[in-house]
Amino acid sequence: MKDVPGLPQSLLVLGGTSGIGLATARRMIARGARTVWLAGRPSPALAAAADSLRRLGAEVRTVPFDALDTESHEERLGKVFTEGAIDLVLLAFGVLGDQARDESDPVAAVRVAQTNYTGAVSAGLVCAGALQAQGHGSLVVLSAVAGERARRADFIYGSSKAGLDVFAQGLGDALHGTGARVMVVRPGFVRSRMTAGLPAGPLATTPEAVASAIELGLRRRSETVWVPGAMRMVAAAVRHLPRPLYRRLPV
Ligand SMILES: NC(=O)c1ccc[n+]([C@@H]2O[C@H](COP(=O)([O-])OP(=O)(O)OC[C@H]3O[C@@H](n4cnc5c(N)ncnc54)[C@H](OP(=O)(O)O)[C@@H]3O)[C@@H](O)[C@H]2O)c1
Repeated sequence: MKDVPGLPQSLLVLGGTSGIGLATARRMIARGARTVWLAGRPSPALAAAADSLRRLGAEVRTVPFDALDTESHEERLGKVFTEGAIDLVLLAFGVLGDQARDESDPVAAVRVAQTNYTGAVSAGLVCAGALQAQGHGSLVVLSAVAGERARRADFIYGSSKAGLDVFAQGLGDALHGTGARVMVVRPGFVRSRMTAGLPAGPLATTPEAVASAIELGLRRRSETVWVPGAMRMVAAAVRHLPRPLYRRLPV
C-alpha cells in the first residue's frame, strides 16, 4: 500500500489492550501501517489483542510494559526502537480509579496518579527521546477533558490527566523543530472498558470515533484534538463558570 502523508507505517501502543489504542491501531492498519508493537502488562487479553491485529495483516509484537515500573521503561521501550523506526507512539494507558474509594484510600489514589502521570512522564520522555533521535515520528498522548477543570466526581483522575496534559504540551514545545512531534488528544466520555457501567452523557463517543479524530489530527499535523470536536467549546465555556454555579452542575 502507498504511504499516506502523516500516517504511520509502524506504531507502538503503550497500553496494548486499550479500547482506544486498539481502535486506533486497526484504523492505522487499514490505512497501510504494517508493524505494530503492543506494550502492556502480559495477560491473555494482551495476547488476544495482538492476534486480533495479526488477523488484519499486520506484523505484531508485544513488549512487557508496566507504567508503574518506571525503572524498566528505558530498557523495555528503548529496545523497541532498536528493532526499527517507529512512526507513531500512542500513549494509551491509564486508570480511572474509583473516586469514592480512593478518597479514603490514599495508597489507591496515588496509584492512579502514578499510573496516569508519573508513568506517562517516564514513558513519554523515553519515547520522545527515541523519536527525536530518529528525526521523525509522532507521540500521541491520550489526555482527557476531565483534566480541564476539577470535577467533584473524578478529581483524582482529572488531576492526573491535568498533569499529563501540561507535560505533553511542554514536551511538544521541546520537540518543536526536531522532526518529532506531540499531539494531545482530549476525549470526553468514551464507551470502553474504562467506563463500562458508568452513565454516558449526551456527548459520549466511541473508541472508533477517537481513532478517526486521531487520523484526522495526524493528517492535519494538529497539536490538539478534542473528541468529539464540540467538546472544545463546551470545555471553554465550563472553564469560565463561577465556582458556586459550576458546583451545582451535574458534570
Ligand atoms: N474511556 C474514556 O472515557 C476516556 C476518556 C478520556 C481519556 N481516556 C484515556 O484514554 C486512554 C485509553 O483509555 P481506554 O478508554 O482505551 O481504556 P481501557 O480500554 O480501559 O485501556 C486502559 C489501558 O491502560 C492499561 N493500563 C492500566 N494500568 C497500567 C499499568 N500500570 N501499566 C501498563 N498499562 C496499564 C490497561 O492495561 P491492562 O489490560 O493491563 O489493564 C489498558 O491497556 C487512557 O489514558 C484514558 O485515561 C479515556
